[in-house]
Amino acid sequence: MSTPLLTPLNLTLLVLILTLAYLRLRPQSPPSLPHGPQPIVFKTFTPRTLLKYNGTDNSPVYLAVRGKVYDVSSGRNFYGPGGPYENFAGRDATRGLACQSFDEEMLTKDLDGPLDPCDDLTSEQVDNLNGWIERFDEKYLVVGKLLPFRKTDFH
Ligand code: HEM
Repeated sequence: MSTPLLTPLNLTLLVLILTLAYLRLRPQSPPSLPHGPQPIVFKTFTPRTLLKYNGTDNSPVYLAVRGKVYDVSSGRNFYGPGGPYENFAGRDATRGLACQSFDEEMLTKDLDGPLDPCDDLTSEQVDNLNGWIERFDEKYLVVGKLLPFRKTDFH
């Protein structure tokens, strides 16, 4: 007497085998590499294009010293909105750092004019400035350079 092939037990085993085979052989999602840090793009800024990097709306915080633009976002508590040195955010901070003053009058007023040459600084102020530059070079990344606006530029 022959036993029928399609018994409930056989069917259950068949389903089980097919399920296991599918789980083993189904296509795996390709391995993904971990995301690296954002690439640093060296850019040129004018006083006006730098202005928007003042930390508002969670934007990065940049400031310029002697023509170098630093990303000071990690010092957001100093330079971000409400910080003690927020006046420097998005600005050329050269004169202010040299003169140890974060007053408004230390900042270049005409954003489309020439850069402040800071050629009237005393030797003490120059030393002071160099000390800050040394600190910034150690602590922050340079993301670009500050150039004066030229009539051929587009904002
Ligand atoms: C009432 C006087 C001041 C006090 C009590 C004071 C206090 C401080 C303190 C505690 C720090 C943090 C230091 C650190 O953790 O590395 C700092 C950093 C700093 N201060 Fe002052 N400060 C004063 C005046 C000024 C003035 C007048 C300036 C103007 C240029 C200035 C510019 C800076 C800058 C640029 C930093 C560095 C922030 C950084 O590392 O990015 N401070 N200050």
